[in-house]
Amino acid sequence: MIHYRDDHRPTLDAARELYRASTLGARRPLDDSARFAAMLAHANLIVTAWDGEHLVGISRCVTDFVWTTYLADLAVVASHQRQGIGKELIRRTQAAAPQAKLLLLAAPAAVDYYPHVGFEAVAQAWLLRAGQTVS
Ligand SMILES: CC(C)(COP(=O)(O)OP(=O)(O)OC[C@H]1O[C@@H](n2cnc3c(N)ncnc32)[C@H](O)[C@@H]1OP(=O)(O)O)[C@@H](O)C(=O)NCCC(=O)NCCS
Repeated sequence: MIHYRDDHRPTLDAARELYRASTLGARRPLDDSARFAAMLAHANLIVTAWDGEHLVGISRCVTDFVWTTYLADLAVVASHQRQGIGKELIRRTQAAAPQAKLLLLAAPAAVDYYPHVGFEAVAQAWLLRAGQTVS
């Protein structure tokens, strides 16, 4: 039985373990503790999934709660994937800010996931990477 929380910020160690066990950790700065801690500390909407005391899923977001929610990380540990936890995390993320659109960048492993669960690819999205400057 999985339970969900939106009132709890996981510890750095628990989050690191979850990111590793989901494979998303390979694409996030887990070994830069200050940076990873800041990612958790400054997210203002975090929905987590728990199997007993074990953290098994996360939706980590930055949102204004009324217009836009940026879903920065969605991750479910490999042992619990494809059981509907990712979808439920997205549902609860939306429910926390129902007026807001949900935006994200898909990791390569999840490019087919988002259209499968109802997301629409938009051509008018633009990205200025960290370190790139406006010309
Ligand atoms: C992507 C991820 C979050 C999905 O979570 P999940 O709990 O495994 O997915 P769900 O159980 O909600 O899956 C819902 C549906 O999508 C399908 N699905 C799951 N992962 C998929 C994938 N990678 N590609 C395509 N479809 C996928 C499921 O089979 C299911 O289909 P159904 O409703 O027709 O039965 C999870 O697999 C994960 O953590 N992956 C590694 C980390 C990652 O890449 N995260 C994305 C960062 S942007």
